[in-house]
Amino acid sequence: MLATSKSGVVIGIKAFPIDIEVDISPGLPSFNMVGLPEGTVRESRERVRAAIKNCGYPFPTQKITVNLAPADIKKDGTSLDLPIACAILCTADVITQDSLKKYCISGELSLDGTVKPTRGVLPLSLAVRNWGLNGYLLSGHNAPEAAVVKETNVYPVEHLSQIVGFLSGSLDIEPVSVDLDGLFDRQENWVSDFQDVIGQEHAKRALEVAAAGGHNVLMIGPPGSGKTMLAKRIASILPPLTFEESLETTTIYSVAGLLPSEKALISERPFCSPHHTISDAGLIGGGAIPKPGQVSLAHNGVLFLDELPEFKKNVLEGLRQPIEDGRVTISRANITLSFPADFALIAAQNPCPCGHLGDSRNRCSCHPAHIMRYRNRISGPLLDRIDIQIEVPAVPYSELNSARAGEPSSSIRVRVKKARKIQENRFSGLKIHCNSQMSSSDLNSFCTLSQESRVFLETVSKKLSLSARAFHRIIKIARTIADLDGSSDIHQNHIAEAVQYRSLDRAKI
Ligand SMILES: Nc1ncnc2c1ncn2[C@@H]1O[C@H](COP(=O)(O)OP(=O)(O)O)[C@@H](O)[C@H]1O
Ligand SMILES: [Mg+2]
Ligand SMILES: [Zn+2]
Repeated sequence: MLATSKSGVVIGIKAFPIDIEVDISPGLPSFNMVGLPEGTVRESRERVRAAIKNCGYPFPTQKITVNLAPADIKKDGTSLDLPIACAILCTADVITQDSLKKYCISGELSLDGTVKPTRGVLPLSLAVRNWGLNGYLLSGHNAPEAAVVKETNVYPVEHLSQIVGFLSGSLDIEPVSVDLDGLFDRQENWVSDFQDVIGQEHAKRALEVAAAGGHNVLMIGPPGSGKTMLAKRIASILPPLTFEESLETTTIYSVAGLLPSEKALISERPFCSPHHTISDAGLIGGGAIPKPGQVSLAHNGVLFLDELPEFKKNVLEGLRQPIEDGRVTISRANITLSFPADFALIAAQNPCPCGHLGDSRNRCSCHPAHIMRYRNRISGPLLDRIDIQIEVPAVPYSELNSARAGEPSSSIRVRVKKARKIQENRFSGLKIHCNSQMSSSDLNSFCTLSQESRVFLETVSKKLSLSARAFHRIIKIARTIADLDGSSDIHQNHIAEAVQYRSLDRAKI
């Protein structure tokens, strides 16, 4: 007696179809599983046996062999419990093979037959739409997440008996539908708005430029100067997530098992601020079966690294690949995975170990050698990937009390969106979409400097003895400033402003 059910497993963020074949043959009662089941899948035998018996269905008393095909894909997790149980019930004629083969099934079983949620149902639902099946059966808790994929019919089941009823035709289950427009509607309601930030016009403008051109930012300032406050508000001026971006980000949260139960779709740009004690696996991603790290959870959003010099060296080095490529590759003995990791990096640090260098409120007590060592903890190659470096001095108490509201995020965002549109047109047909991604040859094609601005830039770079790299950064930032200005040429005032955003280069003189 042979039966087959269909399911899938997610590796990285990609789903692969799995056929579950169950064979019942004469012999002493046994229950074997083949086809690379990992620990949690092997334990599934006990859950499946108990759930079937506790629901009052017959459990075969012969030799049961479960094959998970294809055999060369490692299967991990608990999501195969339900399809295994269904295939066994099919061998006992509780369910017909005809109805069973029409659905993708996933879900964890508890011993009383309750169907529990599992990880990664969104990528599976995205894949199911191409598998030519009638639909996807899974736990009701996961159903809204899977139903985000409009083309997949998603049927929620709470209990093993419901899926049996549905597949044998005695129970009708309505497919879940989610209101995608409604889920997307909340994007303008920001908890943190730039209008709460008093003063700091220089920093706010720098962040506007960063958001407009996709530039990374390092803020240097004493404790309490508002660096965290400013960073938290970046997402409120970035252009709204598109539906495609939202699906990408939600997929990562889905495989990490971090999607809040009341949220089927992540509709706002994520803001991730890992503590500086984080490990490289935590930041970049890792584990025996690799899971996405903070850089991927920040995909299409903001990664805020507070106290940048305090992060471990190897952790910071790991950031270079995602900053460069917008994704991370994780290699293990038998598997290489890649997760998207395209984020806006916002870093913050104190100007010195005590934090008060250049602070009008307090005196710095650090030895110059210690200040040097503190600054050198961030490697040149990482610093090179941060276009905008600004000082964020503390706002005087008297000004903080004046309580004059700043410009709201919504109006800054209008300018950012306009500048992004110009860049989209500029780079249409190319692989890049914002100014920060331009290579040096792109700079020649897209950054025309007027005669006066060329002379000005040359004078400035001699005076500050800028490296070729810093020179290029300034042109890139100036390109974004000109875009915000609606100017196709880069003028002297654009260059002059861009130079302001290279604090560390200026500090060399
Ligand atoms: N410019 C500002 N406008 C309004 N509040 C501010 C400003 N700067 C600092 N604050 C207040 O000080 C607190 C500490 O700021 P924070 O962002 O944590 O500083 P930092 O990260 O630089 O140490 C903020 O929560 C905020 O209440
Ligand atoms: Mg802070
Ligand atoms: Zn100090």
